[in-house]
Amino acid sequence: MGNVTKLSMLGLFLLTGSLQLVSAKGLTRAQTNYMLQCQGCHKASGSGMPPQTPDFHEHGNAFMHSEAGRRYWISVPGAANSPLTDGELADVLNYIANDIVKVDNHTAFTAEEVRAHRGEKMTNVYEVRQNLVDSLAATQAPLSSTVREKHESPGG
Ligand code: HEC
Repeated sequence: MGNVTKLSMLGLFLLTGSLQLVSAKGLTRAQTNYMLQCQGCHKASGSGMPPQTPDFHEHGNAFMHSEAGRRYWISVPGAANSPLTDGELADVLNYIANDIVKVDNHTAFTAEEVRAHRGEKMTNVYEVRQNLVDSLAATQAPLSSTVREKHESPGG
């Protein structure tokens, strides 16, 4: 084995070692981006400060199972106008869906999906959100547990 090969293998070893250090701390790039770009308003737990800053858990599961809901998450100002690239924003939204909300069978956002909808301007976010919640409720999609309980309770 030549010295050059030995050196490059050493480099690879050091690189892998430092990547492992990063993951040992448990911080993925998406998590770091969430902390830097979103957490100030949405909090580490994703509970936000309702009603101004919605709790991701409230309708996250239902939104993620609807095309319109996914577009809404991509194009809300805080997400769409962030300095993140399309791929980074996709990863942060997946982090919110998988690790914060724990969406059932989440279909991962891709850079392509983010790119396709990020430019859609939203003028009245609360109205868009309410219309979305109403239409999802009308189609019996599982909304928050409170809504589900109402549907399932015998007299309700
Ligand atoms: C300056 C505060 C602020 C920051 C920073 C921020 N957001 Fe938001 N976010 C809000 C507010 C306020 C709303 C409610 C809608 C609105 O007024 O835009 C919201 C709504 C949302 C929603 C819709 C949630 C729902 O259930 O209706 C998503 C998704 C979201 N933000 C993602 C993000 C992401 C991702 C980032 C970071 C890249 C981010 N936000 C950064 C304040 C913020």
